[in-house]
Amino acid sequence: MTKNNQSPSFMISRSDRTRHNNHNSFVLWFTGLSGSGKSTIADLVEQELMKQRIHTYILDGDNIRKGLNSDLGFSNEDRTENIRRIGEVSALFVDAGVVVISSFISPFQVDRDIAAAVVGKDKFIEVFINAPLEVCEQRDPKGLYKKVREGTITEFTGISSPYEAPEKPDIEVQTDKISASDAALKIVSAVQLMLNS
Ligand code: ADX
Repeated sequence: MTKNNQSPSFMISRSDRTRHNNHNSFVLWFTGLSGSGKSTIADLVEQELMKQRIHTYILDGDNIRKGLNSDLGFSNEDRTENIRRIGEVSALFVDAGVVVISSFISPFQVDRDIAAAVVGKDKFIEVFINAPLEVCEQRDPKGLYKKVREGTITEFTGISSPYEAPEKPDIEVQTDKISASDAALKIVSAVQLMLNS
């Protein structure tokens, strides 16, 4: 057994966990507008990975913004802090040997870059879930775009708050052009080699 890099006093290391789980761990970091399909695709990717006996966990607004980050709203500063904490949590899950699917708008490139540095760039896969704003607004799965147009929600990403699309995502899926299940298969096949390299 090797010593753990992050906690020198503990004997079990990430490489021990990798051997134990029989696969590598990393983060699939989903970024995209509200309504672009992040949650749907995260769910499908997790199901595909589960079929391969991969240990996975999805971090998303439901389990993070309702708990750990319930003190945060949607100002630029709060979004930055939201992503900073999620980057830290993602790094812990990766250290625990899990393939993490972090599914957040994460609108600012600098915040995604900081999360990548915290996790480790070689273990951080930026996945751009790309759909035009008009398509997201038409889908409006949570009825939020309607509320934005009615003026009851402010600072909404893509409309009254910026979204910086990744310039060089590791993986991009255009969800107005391919189905959610094809998008999930594209993502899973793109990471096959990483799982066991
Ligand atoms: S992020 O910008 O800080 O990354 P995050 O992904 O956690 O955002 O949360 C976005 C989700 O919160 C959206 O999918 C939507 O359901 C909800 N939401 C509520 N208010 C807003 C807002 N003003 N802008 C964007 N999303 C909002």
